[in-house]
Amino acid sequence: MQKGMAGLKRTDYCGELGESNIGKKVTLMGWAAKNRDLGGVIFIDLRDRTGIVQTVFNQETASDIFALAESVRSEYVVGIEGVVRKRAPETVNNNIPTGTIEVLASNIVIYSKSETPPFYIEEGIDTNEQVRLKYRYLDLRRPDMQKNMILRHKVCKVARDYFDSQGFLEIETPMLTKSTPEGARDYLVPSRIHHGAFYALPQSPQQYKQLLMLAGMDKYFQIARCFRDEDLRADRQPEFTQIDIEMSFVEAEDVISCNEGMLAEVFEKTLGIKVKTPFLRLTYKEAMERYGSDKPDTRFGLELVDMSDIAKGCGFKVFADAVANGGSVRAINVNGASDRLSRRDLDSLVDFVKIYCAKGLAWIVVAEGELKSPVTKFLTEEETAAILKRADAKVGDVVLFVADKDEIVFDSLGALRQEIAKRLDMIDKSLFNFLWVTEFPLLEYDEEEKRFVAKHHPFTAPMDEDLELLDTDPASVRAKAYDVILNGCELGGGSIRIYDGELQAKMFKLLGFTEEAAQAQFGHLLTAFKYGTPPHGGMAYGLDRLVMLLAGCSSIRDVMAFPKVQTASEVMTNAPDFVDKKQLMELGIKIVNID
Ligand code: AMO
Ligand code: AMP
Repeated sequence: MQKGMAGLKRTDYCGELGESNIGKKVTLMGWAAKNRDLGGVIFIDLRDRTGIVQTVFNQETASDIFALAESVRSEYVVGIEGVVRKRAPETVNNNIPTGTIEVLASNIVIYSKSETPPFYIEEGIDTNEQVRLKYRYLDLRRPDMQKNMILRHKVCKVARDYFDSQGFLEIETPMLTKSTPEGARDYLVPSRIHHGAFYALPQSPQQYKQLLMLAGMDKYFQIARCFRDEDLRADRQPEFTQIDIEMSFVEAEDVISCNEGMLAEVFEKTLGIKVKTPFLRLTYKEAMERYGSDKPDTRFGLELVDMSDIAKGCGFKVFADAVANGGSVRAINVNGASDRLSRRDLDSLVDFVKIYCAKGLAWIVVAEGELKSPVTKFLTEEETAAILKRADAKVGDVVLFVADKDEIVFDSLGALRQEIAKRLDMIDKSLFNFLWVTEFPLLEYDEEEKRFVAKHHPFTAPMDEDLELLDTDPASVRAKAYDVILNGCELGGGSIRIYDGELQAKMFKLLGFTEEAAQAQFGHLLTAFKYGTPPHGGMAYGLDRLVMLLAGCSSIRDVMAFPKVQTASEVMTNAPDFVDKKQLMELGIKIVNID
């Protein structure tokens, strides 16, 4: 039966003990990470959040205490009293920071026992993730996960302190909100009081933070939980956290420089890394043309080269047709890769680009004294020479081409450059390459819906110099939007907002909303705009992504305490789960096709 702490009070944390504590009487609490019984001597490695320390029970230990220590198994929770002493040189353990000392125990209290855990509670296990998630509390006990959680805490703390020092106010916004079209699919919450009506969980605090600017709060931030019912990926969860900010009376430059300061501070105070500011800037157009991506990884080269003018009217029909149809022919030169990309590798790269809807991948291998290629036979010598010159191709290089609509060329070559860099180990993992991508298109044409949709969101302001184009050529209007990219990952994004009611109404119209529909969905915002709106803008970071990159993990699941799996379920609690008929009745909900 439990009796509080049985009279013990913790004096120290295991991992914080060192030689400076030699001779100190300490009381430690934690889990038995490992126990070895060598007959007359028992070693229990005690673990808490800070690390592990070895405790020793021997002939000097009282017999009842020794017997208790003997009964301890892995993951028992114990309190141990003892004295810190130096280890004999031959028993020093260099694998742990406390390895030069140990605690000679005089007392032990067993608080709770443990069944044998389903996996080892140690760093770097290769246990199936489903099992780890089912027993997440055990998984989180592992030192690598504890480090990630501590890092996440630090990032939040540094961000909070930074924004506080810059005059931002932390303000909470509602979780139960109104569903709006655009964006991802909403998570809905049925109302008990208004049968048939639903709240939506926020995809982001976007409208509220803009309304806070209208409310005169001037600078807002929030570490905000967001919900999006979209397909999961390594860097995407149905609920995730944003560091969300909004500022009044600013232009993009102000938001960008304020946020560079925040990121630099986070890197300095967590990893001790000095990030160089200002970050590199690329316009969307430059990013696409050079890297085939609006979130380019600049840790390696493999930049795209435009061959369209040479390919135009050439003898290879695929190339000539692509240009004639308004598309392009672009290439990547993989320097010195001819001996590392076999014919079979090239075939697999052809299959790879097909995932991105490319119809094929042409290649030229520049060998000593000859060119190997399935396409040079269709080209004149001059055309081939011009292509190789443009690609700056030398002996040993492999040049890869895709010809298609720009969208497919960028998509496939953008992904291909990442794939090749990965396969040929061209990425320097020690780099943190930040950059801003600016001047995004304001709108995107949705083929399925046969209308424009906002590339960022409907509240993003067009660039002043493109305002006129809203009436004549909406597709070419650029937005005052910016994304911050780190090593090919979209860390965050934002924009300067529309603050003029008329322009906002025009934007809704461009997006295909009738006046009535715009009123019904966004009436509150349009009304608010009538009462004095400050120019404003802001952005939001994916906190999970930021911590993932800082921690060197490849999935945001590793930096979230209780993430969801691919099917959007939480395997430990088994959410989502079915509910009582009574609960459904109260909500006025009847489930079709389910008993
Ligand atoms: P956006 O939709 O670009 O902008 O989101 C901002 C950042 O949030 C992260 N993110 C996600 N992280 C994990 N799982 C997800 N499902 C997920 N979706 C997005 C990304 C992304 O860059 N309100 C605007 C911001 C603004 O304009 O101020 C917004 O939400 O890192
Ligand atoms: P084919 O004429 O189909 O035999 O193609 C000749 C070569 O051109 C093959 O290596 C194809 O992979 C490549 N190819 C085909 N279509 C394209 C395309 N759209 N872009 C680049 N290369 C292509």
